[in-house]
Amino acid sequence: MAPVESLSRPTLKILFAASEAVPLIKTGGLGDVSGSLPLALHRLGHDVRLVMPAYADAIARVSDAEPLGTLPVPRAPGPVRLLEGTLDDGMVPVYLVDAPGLFDRGGNPYVGPDGRDWPDNALRFGTLCRVASEIALGHSSLGWQPELVHANDWQTGLIAPFLADLAGRPATLFTIHNLSYQGLFDRPTFDAIGLPPHWWSPRGVEFYNHLSFIKGGINLSDIVTTVSPTYAAEIRQPQLGYGLHGLLDHRADRLYGILNGIDYDLWDPATDPAIPRNFSADRYRDKGPNKGRLQQVFGLDERPNALLFGHVGRLVEQKGIDLILAALPRLMAQPEVQLVILGSGSAALEERVRAVSAQYPGRVGTRLGYDEPLSHLVEAGSDVFLMPSRFEPCGLNQLYSLRYGTVPIVHRTGGLADTVVDATPDALAAGIATGFCFEPATAEALWSAIARALALWRQPGVAWEKLAATGMRQDFSWATSARRYEELYQIAIRHALAAAG
Ligand code: ADP
Ligand code: GLC
Repeated sequence: MAPVESLSRPTLKILFAASEAVPLIKTGGLGDVSGSLPLALHRLGHDVRLVMPAYADAIARVSDAEPLGTLPVPRAPGPVRLLEGTLDDGMVPVYLVDAPGLFDRGGNPYVGPDGRDWPDNALRFGTLCRVASEIALGHSSLGWQPELVHANDWQTGLIAPFLADLAGRPATLFTIHNLSYQGLFDRPTFDAIGLPPHWWSPRGVEFYNHLSFIKGGINLSDIVTTVSPTYAAEIRQPQLGYGLHGLLDHRADRLYGILNGIDYDLWDPATDPAIPRNFSADRYRDKGPNKGRLQQVFGLDERPNALLFGHVGRLVEQKGIDLILAALPRLMAQPEVQLVILGSGSAALEERVRAVSAQYPGRVGTRLGYDEPLSHLVEAGSDVFLMPSRFEPCGLNQLYSLRYGTVPIVHRTGGLADTVVDATPDALAAGIATGFCFEPATAEALWSAIARALALWRQPGVAWEKLAATGMRQDFSWATSARRYEELYQIAIRHALAAAG
């Protein structure tokens, strides 16, 4: 991996492009990052502005949205307006791409009520990319041009291809949050989107005779990042490279892994309004009443001494919920153990999760759906957080768990490997352990980590409390990672200048 150079710090103009951002709309960690990294960059003194689709939910949540005028977007079904509002008490301007035929529909940004991708996703996110590149070139009525565009995941992958050839373009940085979602479409879709025809090539967006949004971002951005150092190495290998490992390996001198931070104001057990009792590392025992509330909400037996396992996540194969279900009979053979699961996702996994609470009444509670405040209560009220993801580019729930004194049990992969220190006897003795790691991603290996956790929980004394409090004292705020991005932005700007000759 190329080293990050340290440079002086001028104020930069940055356009941050994403398909979701807290508090406007969120389906997963991308929303958390797009809501919190721009603010962290603003606090470092940069002029950072966000561009994203004007979903109905997003418009409703930006109280001060004002129309800025229309933009010429070839091939869009009707006029595309730009709305301007602000986030974070006015600190981060946000531009909403208002194309009612594309974005003004309820529900999920990516899939319809039938659980299938919206059929016009290529046009929807192609339009987002086109509008972002018009802003990037200074062609909007904003009177503002960024020096760098920071694009995120496949939905913004065509921004770099729209810009790459053009004089006066800003630098581009593309962050891969999850390589398994690539934005693949057919050749007629490429023709309809209006990219320069020569990008239908392996050097552009062509991937096995398909249009690949993510490949465009990887191939044509000045810098490529992903959200943890370990995942940056893993995606250069066939197993997690999804056919793009060769390209990523080829671009290794432009590829960096920067760990996500979390929003320390939104996720702070000392002030969190979503939980009944606030607590901190120094007041760890105040965590206790949150367990009682969680047991009530999930219909569990109200036992203060239960060892309560929690899980929150998208119910998709990536997250390894099936491993939890496979380990369940052994888990339930332990008399003090209880389990809560909050999630939504594939119909098949939802069905399997629904079935288990009926099987273990009073001991297993499940909630299917998306519930932000409840996710805070699960973090606060559980003793242990299960995160057996098969792969995990960064993962935020283990970071929330550490901050809430909820000991994570994680598969040693991606960002999970980079953020949790396994409770080996040596690490415990040195006072640096923060959780339990296992590999490979099997129910057997998960169970052996759970067994180690149970043994520590059952130890008399304060061993467990010490482990949890060590986790709570780690720093996963944006402070360090936002500075790393700042350094990379400058490197990207140098590459863009060099490319312009
Ligand atoms: P991913 O982005 O792959 O889903 P992360 O761990 O990075 O995984 O982030 C997931 C985010 O989405 C976390 O903030 C988590 O709390 C939240 N989340 C996932 N599922 C739910 C749910 N059913 N209800 C509330 N929050 C959820
Ligand atoms: C993706 C990844 C997750 C990461 C999040 C934010 O959804 O699956 O690991 O934490 O993006 O970067």
